[in-house]
Amino acid sequence: MKTVLRGRLAAVASLVRDGAYLADIGTDHAYLPIYLVQTGRIKGAVASDIRSGPLARAQKNILAAGLAEQIHTVLTDGLSGLDRYPLTDIVIAGMGGMEIAAILEAAPFVKRACPRLILQPMQHIPELRDYLSGGWNTEKETQAIEGGKLYQILCVTYDGISRPITETERLLGRYNIEHKKESPALFRILCERHLAVLDEKIAGLEKGGLGAAKPKELRRDVAAQLEDLPPQT
Ligand SMILES: C[S@@+](CC[C@H](N)C(=O)[O-])C[C@H]1O[C@@H](n2cnc3c(N)ncnc32)[C@H](O)[C@@H]1O
Repeated sequence: MKTVLRGRLAAVASLVRDGAYLADIGTDHAYLPIYLVQTGRIKGAVASDIRSGPLARAQKNILAAGLAEQIHTVLTDGLSGLDRYPLTDIVIAGMGGMEIAAILEAAPFVKRACPRLILQPMQHIPELRDYLSGGWNTEKETQAIEGGKLYQILCVTYDGISRPITETERLLGRYNIEHKKESPALFRILCERHLAVLDEKIAGLEKGGLGAAKPKELRRDVAAQLEDLPPQT
């Protein structure tokens, strides 16, 4: 049966390069590598997970798709031991931003081989951006909406150049700010979700009699990003 991807995973898949050899870290169901091999988009893949239950699920789906030769499975923590595969692209999706940063930091070979990394953090996205600002070039960012939730997907490669980021860039992403007119509707949603979180934070601080100058300044900066967007249709 052909695997179909929608929403979040479809957006992740769109950033994997044609002809890639992929590592899908924390693969769970292995839908992503199965879809990419079935559609002829990639040469092959290694699908890994830290837990045996999800890896068994991946193996079952890969076998059912008849793709055991093209997709290898490995039980491992992060990228540990995966440098023996000819990886060109690595996906780490559906994990926390700090966990993704820890996985990258524990795998120095990604700084030597410079594969394309496609990262889809579930939370702690500003913390992941802090980590990536120390030597990772953002080639592209995109967003996907699924089940009413907004997901952010970052596509980066290591080049060793440090790029300090502002508080606003920690929240919204420098790439998204610089390219906001290419997908204004998604950028607006991104800003509006952050404004709602900041409003709640400011109200909580003020209710507790605490100073809210910093989040208020950040709120002003995020709101200012909306000013030069084309009007909504
Ligand atoms: C929420 S699932 C995401 C599955 C799939 N990547 C997706 O985006 O739909 C997270 C998976 O990551 C695995 N995982 C968590 N930490 C990991 C690590 N350090 N190394 C490898 N896999 C990990 C979990 O066992 C789980 O199967």
